[in-house]
Amino acid sequence: MKENISNPKDVKKPENIFISESVEQTQEFAKEYAKTLKNGDVVLLEGDMGAGKTAFAKGVALGLGIEEEVTSPTYAYMNDYDGRLFHYDCYRIESVEQAESLGLADYFDMGGICLIEWSQNIAPLLPRVVKRVSIKKINDRKREIEF
Ligand SMILES: Nc1ncnc2c1ncn2[C@@H]1O[C@H](COP(=O)(O)OP(=O)(O)OP(=O)(O)O)[C@@H](O)[C@H]1O
Ligand SMILES: [Mg+2]
Repeated sequence: MKENISNPKDVKKPENIFISESVEQTQEFAKEYAKTLKNGDVVLLEGDMGAGKTAFAKGVALGLGIEEEVTSPTYAYMNDYDGRLFHYDCYRIESVEQAESLGLADYFDMGGICLIEWSQNIAPLLPRVVKRVSIKKINDRKREIEF
């Protein structure tokens, strides 16, 4: 007799939604969200260009008490804030091989919190367990943040 065992992957957790009306609200929300994070957490920041992923990352840094200003990692692909926060922007990563040779996966288990923009470009390197924050642009200032 075939047993009906559901694959845990098929069970979608209900998502929480926060509606942000400004970049300040997004950062304030991210600051609070930061309190739910534990060392070693890997968070995929999802959303189109200009959605507010980097703005969110700035809020997380504030929430973690990081004083250094968070800017978009471009040339370096990843900015290291005292080993406490690793902020990735993988938009320009051209191949998994490139990401591997840059050692981008080395930071996932260094004990800091990883925030990753454009993680789809390094998908095979990602750890099995990740958190997700998806930001959807509703209009100029309004964003739907799913977490
Ligand atoms: N509610 C909002 N939340 C976040 N950003 C907002 C909001 N309203 C307007 N903005 C503006 O949207 C832009 C978001 O830029 P940001 O660099 O954070 O996007 P991003 O998702 O990181 O894009 P990219 O993929 O290019 O890195 C900023 O100019 C910000 O001021
Ligand atoms: Mg960005």
